[in-house]
Amino acid sequence: MNQIPQDNQGPVDVVIMAAGKGTRMKSRLPKVLHRLAGRALLAHVTGTAARIGARHVVVVTGHGAAEVEAAMSSGNGVGAALQFARQEPQLGTGHAVQQAVPLLPEDGTVLVLSGDVPLIGEETLRALIAASAGQRLALMTIEFDDPTGYGRIVRTEGREGEVTAIVEHKDATEAQREICEIYSGMMAVPAALLKGWLARLDNRNAQGEYYLTDIVKLAAADGVPVVAHVTADALQVAGINSPAQLAALERAWQLRQAEALMAQGVRLADPARFDLRGTLACEADVEIDVNCVFEGAVFLGEGVRIGANCVIANARIEAGAVIHPFTHIEGEKAGVTVGERSLIGPFARLRPGAQLGAEVHIGNFVEVKNSTLAEGAKANHLAYLGDATVGQRVNYGAGSITANYDGANKHRTVIEDDVHVGSNCVLVAPVTIGAGGTIGGGSTVNKSTEPGALTVARSKPVSFPNWKRPQKKPKA
Ligand code: UD1
Ligand code: CA
Repeated sequence: MNQIPQDNQGPVDVVIMAAGKGTRMKSRLPKVLHRLAGRALLAHVTGTAARIGARHVVVVTGHGAAEVEAAMSSGNGVGAALQFARQEPQLGTGHAVQQAVPLLPEDGTVLVLSGDVPLIGEETLRALIAASAGQRLALMTIEFDDPTGYGRIVRTEGREGEVTAIVEHKDATEAQREICEIYSGMMAVPAALLKGWLARLDNRNAQGEYYLTDIVKLAAADGVPVVAHVTADALQVAGINSPAQLAALERAWQLRQAEALMAQGVRLADPARFDLRGTLACEADVEIDVNCVFEGAVFLGEGVRIGANCVIANARIEAGAVIHPFTHIEGEKAGVTVGERSLIGPFARLRPGAQLGAEVHIGNFVEVKNSTLAEGAKANHLAYLGDATVGQRVNYGAGSITANYDGANKHRTVIEDDVHVGSNCVLVAPVTIGAGGTIGGGSTVNKSTEPGALTVARSKPVSFPNWKRPQKKPKA
């Protein structure tokens, strides 16, 4: 294929077909809202449309239209460029694109995508648009060993010939069914040409549908060149029709992400037991054990080690920190930071706004929320720190909690540097424990304490000498 400069094509407007029923998902949720790598299938496609710089992105909705439109109206990655065109009833892919026509300016190239083909890549689409070059009909095709069910690419004389038609499987002759080159469902075409052809479609075929693929015949009849951009990457054109296909594509995509991280030097104990549902940025010598899930935006500094079975979302883990197995870190919007060389877990829980300095230790069954812990602070067992400011080298005993909520409002607890909080203490916020102070085990503290003081707030032990415990009655 001769090289045509990309600036020939002008603005790109994207139409995403998403009106189909998705019967084989057997789900109440519209198919395009099912999730791959933590995001709706359709959101993958709108995100890619945004990255290629689409001017308009029109989603054709039908089945579950209201739900799809509501789900996509915020955080779709496209912002104001996203528009919806309803297709009711659904009379085929040609009919679907017809519904978008009023929203498509004459001067653009229209890129047709499917809401259930989530992994189509930016570079592949750029190549397809370049093949259209503002004047041709460009089809994305691929060769399949088993082309059953797909539209076949019909060429004049064999494999290298000109494309003259796409014939749907149900309409194909035995000879045409032997063709292994299939239409992926994605095309790039100048808007003005597309509109003319759409107006000429009919539904005289095996399914009684208006086939978008019939525009190929019309282009050939009009003498407009039809070009095929053949891709070799089956993952990028894979469509989702069933839970099994969704799971298979998820694993294939996760493996690809795992391989990309390993190529950067990340050491994964098992690339088949790794899940990334967002972005993971890693510095050198990061080790990740089996069955970890990363969500949102996660950063792992140099030499960070993540133990088995951790779930980590929206967090920054600084160099040399170790996250022991079964730790749950959920940063949500506020984020979580784990400082350099900190030791977290096993079985620790860090919630939004946990900001841990260097060499902090958080042990098993310790929950930290919206709290700052300065360098060297330790809470090693069974504790809660919520809405707290914890100074350097503080030791926070087993079973101690900050009572941060009075039933209506949340209050802060301040624990200054070098404080030692014994076991099983309740710090009733708002309260400040002065620097270097000590809180005796079992104390409930609802008044601020002076620096250096020992504070004990518990009943004195009472002993009864030679106490006889009740005895079991002998059997009669
Ligand atoms: C279509 C192509 C076929 C291609 C295959 C690739 C046509 C006629 N055939 O087949 O050549 O090999 O995709 O997967 O285009 N949709 C609507 N409205 C409708 C019908 C479909 O929005 O009225 C949407 C679906 O939700 C889906 C996409 O269009 O996202 C493709 O529809 P689907 O039924 O999967 O296409 P096929 O008939 O399998
Ligand atoms: Ca169909």
